Amino acid sequence: MNILLLGSGGRESALAWKISQSKSCSKLFIAPGNGGTDSYGENVAISPLDFDAIKQFCNQNSIEMIVVGNEDPLVAGIWDYFQSTDILVVGPSKAGAALEGSKDFAKAFMTRHAIPTAAYRSFTADTVAEGEAFLRSLKAPYVLKADGLAAGKGVLIIDNIDQACASLREMLGGMFGASSATVVIEEFLSGIECSVFVLTDGNGGYRVLPVAKDYKRIGEGDTGPNTGGMGAVSPVVFANDEFMQKVTSRIIEPTIKGLKEEGITYRGFIFLGLINVGGEPMVIEYNVRMGDPETEAVMLRIDSDLVPLLKAAAEGNLGDLPLEISKQAAVTVMVVSGGYPGSYPKGKAITLPAASESILFHAGTRREAEQLVTSGGRVISVSSKADTVEEALKLSFATAEAIEFEGKYFRHDIGADLLRLANDDK
Ligand code: AMP
Ligand code: GLY
Repeated sequence: MNILLLGSGGRESALAWKISQSKSCSKLFIAPGNGGTDSYGENVAISPLDFDAIKQFCNQNSIEMIVVGNEDPLVAGIWDYFQSTDILVVGPSKAGAALEGSKDFAKAFMTRHAIPTAAYRSFTADTVAEGEAFLRSLKAPYVLKADGLAAGKGVLIIDNIDQACASLREMLGGMFGASSATVVIEEFLSGIECSVFVLTDGNGGYRVLPVAKDYKRIGEGDTGPNTGGMGAVSPVVFANDEFMQKVTSRIIEPTIKGLKEEGITYRGFIFLGLINVGGEPMVIEYNVRMGDPETEAVMLRIDSDLVPLLKAAAEGNLGDLPLEISKQAAVTVMVVSGGYPGSYPKGKAITLPAASESILFHAGTRREAEQLVTSGGRVISVSSKADTVEEALKLSFATAEAIEFEGKYFRHDIGADLLRLANDDK
């Protein structure tokens, strides 16, 4: 079948890499793609939010399935838009995408279905005084979240109560535009996070993909501002059988059952952002897509052909299709532009190593004539697979070292916390 993949980041590079290996994929197109995705398929200059242009392209190129990399088209209703066509879309309906598009909806959904998550309340400009009173009833640190999509920047964690109250007012006053017209305030949870990815067919069938941990802060030792993600490791030592059993029975199954009970069609990836609170998994957030950069590690550990699984999920019947997961470890180290996640220069010439044992998933690159240049904060995701996390990390760090462009930065401590945990367990 011909497939159209939407997006332009490292996640889409990894999805394109995996999809292009499928016996079931005749032609792969990536819209808009980046300076590296053209090695797996053909880049097409269409915005993932321009549904009319996407439909026209699909009709002209006999596309049978659309795989959506980023959340915006899903939240904007791409699944619903293509309902009137024969084209399959891997993803939730617009109603399902609200699990990511509205934190207030997600929290209320979890409450309705008794899914473990931090206690919370939501406030608007009309209820700001109640919001302040609620903040004062909680213990520091204070967690404030913009209800809507805010490109990963809409969460503030603040130690000081007066500052938290001031930030609540600023958020409700438009700090994140319309996204923070409603603010969710929640209890702070303490623990280690991990990302669990589920592919569901909306009819009770699902597969759990390899679990990964990502590293959100820019600085080593988890310091400095949040980024889109500086690296990822899979597997995650604490996500053992016992923990995953709890995740399945308390979170995955109630989520899938809850969606069905509420009449919400969901045929795609559910990304559970979890936190391990003393051995008990709790949900920090839902996303309705794969994670970036987790996908750049997770795809390396999927041994099965992904396309039949995607197609079956989109058709609503995963049946007994196998999902084989490699016992090896995979990691990714994100090489970023100096200055990121603040302002950074673009257009810096990139030199890639002539040979490497890693896979280079382009994230923020583009080609200027024959020269590869930087075009984003996260530039290249350096992914490696080996028998152990430690060996895979060594490969990725060596390759990241060998990539050259002015201002290059990467974290040298990706996975260090998990290696320490694994050693403590011995
Ligand atoms: P979110 O966008 O909801 O994933 O939040 C971004 C990050 O903020 C998460 O990955 C956590 O590290 C942190 N965070 C969010 N909610 C909480 C919470 N209730 N307790 C502790 N940390 C949180
Ligand atoms: N890595 C976290 C995310 O994709 O949201």
